[in-house]
Amino acid sequence: MSQTKPSAKLAPFPSRAEAPAPEKLALTHRPRRNRKSDWARRLVRENVLTTDDLIWPIFVIGGEKRTEAVTSMPGVVRYSVDEAVRAAEKAAGLHIPAIAIFPYTDPDLRDPHGSEALHDQNLVCQACRAIKAAVPDLGLITDVALDPYTSHGHDGLMRGEEILNDETVAVLVKQALNQARAGADVIAPSDMMDGRVAAIRAGLDSDGFQHVQVMAYAAKYASAFYGPFRDAVGTNKTLVGDKRTYQMDPANSDEALREVEHDILEGADMVMVKPGMPYLDIVRRVKETFGQPTFAYQVSGEYAMIMAAAGHGWLDGDRAMMESLIAFKRAGADGVLTYFAVRAAEALRDA
Ligand code: PBG
Repeated sequence: MSQTKPSAKLAPFPSRAEAPAPEKLALTHRPRRNRKSDWARRLVRENVLTTDDLIWPIFVIGGEKRTEAVTSMPGVVRYSVDEAVRAAEKAAGLHIPAIAIFPYTDPDLRDPHGSEALHDQNLVCQACRAIKAAVPDLGLITDVALDPYTSHGHDGLMRGEEILNDETVAVLVKQALNQARAGADVIAPSDMMDGRVAAIRAGLDSDGFQHVQVMAYAAKYASAFYGPFRDAVGTNKTLVGDKRTYQMDPANSDEALREVEHDILEGADMVMVKPGMPYLDIVRRVKETFGQPTFAYQVSGEYAMIMAAAGHGWLDGDRAMMESLIAFKRAGADGVLTYFAVRAAEALRDA
């Protein structure tokens, strides 16, 4: 990097009516000094992204030795359980601390009650057992919500048009226990029902799972950015209506703090804001207000936007990826769920 020499020819500040003669101009503040070279920039860098900040969400399908591309998420595939084990080994090899598992449930197994969520041989449970056996030191996060299992695509049970809260919570507790028994380390309720964190915590504790953590999707917004994820788990086809009676209104910010506060008081070990990039203001407020382990989910639509633009050659995909990830750290996040996790970990390793 070339050094910028102090120049007598710098233009005076336009606001100054009487600018000093150019040869007299001595700027007190030259922020560019600290940017003059790579070593100087590294020395004053305020935030760092490391592999320890990354959580990798993966999609699981039935069958064996199968991977299936998710069209709206270039580079992302669904893995059969044996392939998910390979993927988990790769993540562990890169020192990614944890993965989050999401199932593509066979449409024939979906029903109005999401019964498959409680089946101890469902895809998530199979994947947990297989991955735990092969890579015991990798953190396993499982999603609690009924949408991949219901024929209507909602996260909860329905009566007519209504998404039932308390009836759903009772089922979510059973779903969480089913996952904990299969070896999940962290239960992550993404359903946005009221009171589910307390109920799940109590359920885990009374069944001997005091050590299992809860990562609450505490401030989860009703977002268009989930579109590609719904392709990946097959709920774009099933979803009837929208999720605005339980997921948050994107216009709200104070409400996010109340949601997070409830989840912390109910016993959440970690809280999450979702989506990520359009909600960095929320990440910052949550971290500053509560000082709790705070995560952000860079969701499928955010990933798809960067990949699509990169695919067209409209931006440099790897640079956009790293810039988007450091933005989460700058906003105060302790970690990020991102489909870029493996790619970013490789970039960090090779840097
Ligand atoms: C559903 C769930 C969703 C995501 C994670 N869990 C979608 C939704 O609420 O419809 C979205 C993740 C993403 O878009 O990457 N419980």
